[in-house]
Amino acid sequence: MGVMRIGRAELRVMDMEKAVDYYTRVIGLEETGRRDGRVYLKAWDEYDHHSLILQEADSPGMDHCAFKVETLEDLARYEKKIEHFGLTLKRVSNRSRLGEGEAIRFELPTGHQVELFHEIDYVGKIMGLENPHPWPDNLRGIAPHRLDHVLLTGDDVDSTTRFFIEALGFHQSEKIMSVDGEVTIGSFLFTNNGKPHEIAFIKGPDKKLHHAAFFVDNWYDVLKGADILSKNNVPVEVTPTRHGITRGLTTYFFDPSGNRNEAFASGYITYPDFKTITWTEDKIGQGIFYHRREMLESFGRALT
Ligand SMILES: [Fe+2]
Repeated sequence: MGVMRIGRAELRVMDMEKAVDYYTRVIGLEETGRRDGRVYLKAWDEYDHHSLILQEADSPGMDHCAFKVETLEDLARYEKKIEHFGLTLKRVSNRSRLGEGEAIRFELPTGHQVELFHEIDYVGKIMGLENPHPWPDNLRGIAPHRLDHVLLTGDDVDSTTRFFIEALGFHQSEKIMSVDGEVTIGSFLFTNNGKPHEIAFIKGPDKKLHHAAFFVDNWYDVLKGADILSKNNVPVEVTPTRHGITRGLTTYFFDPSGNRNEAFASGYITYPDFKTITWTEDKIGQGIFYHRREMLESFGRALT
């Protein structure tokens, strides 16, 4: 299988205690450890040690995101492919992060730092592996199942897409093209686990995070998620609606440092033979917000 899924995102936050309070009490992640000024968190339905790392910094944004590969041999195999593609790569040594083995780190044509890793401590789920109940008691906040995907902005969406397809074996589920078909404005990429996207890119300033998304089950959970955000005075940018792209159900909001988050549900299933869907720029409003059918000004502007 090679790349299995997005394994983590490390976000920069400006006030660690505010951020931890938000990501644990409002989002509903659990803290799994602290080291070197970083806080490690996971969702209740994730079994690896962490999927989100918070790092205190002067400005918000994403330090890096990482994908988990199936075997250690995959790591060596991808190292060659990434170098062959022409990206510079470095090794991150064993245990430089809490609960994690070695990783390889490289810079995308959009300037984002991405890692691949295999080894991470297995911490399991509260429900266990034998006759498990469907969900644990005492869930807090939105309580998503998992980190689902990230959307990043950058100038060279084409080379970045080509890299994910040629070097990492991803597929493209959807793209947004200029009306004349000349310029790629958006690219949505999936690996072999059936999700509509694992990572996506929108044309814009390099190195920026547009949003990090957490997966909830269904439409009611998206609605209830928005209730929880309002109850906690979290700035909600987009109230519950549907995406044309991915057909997902969505709410967008901001963490205390201004990093955009999404509660995402549903969406179609992909397979390796899924044919790429094309949206034209004149329909981008409908592609992103299927009901309003127009772009929100803040949605293109607020990046971290
Ligand atoms: Fe999203």
